[in-house]
Amino acid sequence: MPHRLVSRRWTLAGAAGTLLLPATAVGAARPTATPSQTEGPFYPTGTARPSDRDADLLILSNRPGRATGDTIYVKGRVSTLDGAAVSGAEVHIWQANAKGVYNHPSDGNDPTFQGFGAVTTDAQGRYRFRTLQPAGYGSMFFRRPPHIHFKVLIRGRPVLTTQMYFADGEGNDRDGILNGVDSAAARAALIVPFRPSPAIEPDSRSGTFDIVISAPA
Ligand SMILES: [Fe+2]
Repeated sequence: MPHRLVSRRWTLAGAAGTLLLPATAVGAARPTATPSQTEGPFYPTGTARPSDRDADLLILSNRPGRATGDTIYVKGRVSTLDGAAVSGAEVHIWQANAKGVYNHPSDGNDPTFQGFGAVTTDAQGRYRFRTLQPAGYGSMFFRRPPHIHFKVLIRGRPVLTTQMYFADGEGNDRDGILNGVDSAAARAALIVPFRPSPAIEPDSRSGTFDIVISAPA
């Protein structure tokens, strides 16, 4: 194994406190780094962050029932450009509800929808959320397609802020933020097909959004 790879993995493991498992053979094509996207105005901080922030955004710990909307599962793996899994990373998501409204003081509030979730990647770098299909939002002058915001943190430091889009999402082709990514391959890395997943839950769909970070903390 080339010394560069050994030292890079050792450095990353030491700096990030993560267990890194090589998954890409030496000489194989390097994956595309997941491009960053604007954070937008609705990332919840301070009191805007719900006390219930687990991986199930449909159920709130302090009220019965579940959020209204179509159930989706969003899952994936966080890795480095070397293909090594990043365990122990925090993955945050935040999104609009089925009516295109954020659970944020600067937007409307939906008391039935968690709107934000945070999980830690496992030893293989994997994460998973249960949430609902968000609607697009905006006006005739500035309209966003359905999307989910992501932020990845290592040891509390953000290493990537981006947005995930749906392959069948209305308006992807007209969205200035998505199409502000120059590379077609990088844009494609943000667009995820969702398919029925009855084995996970009846009437649910699931999609895989793998995240490749280029600059670990
Ligand atoms: Fe948004």
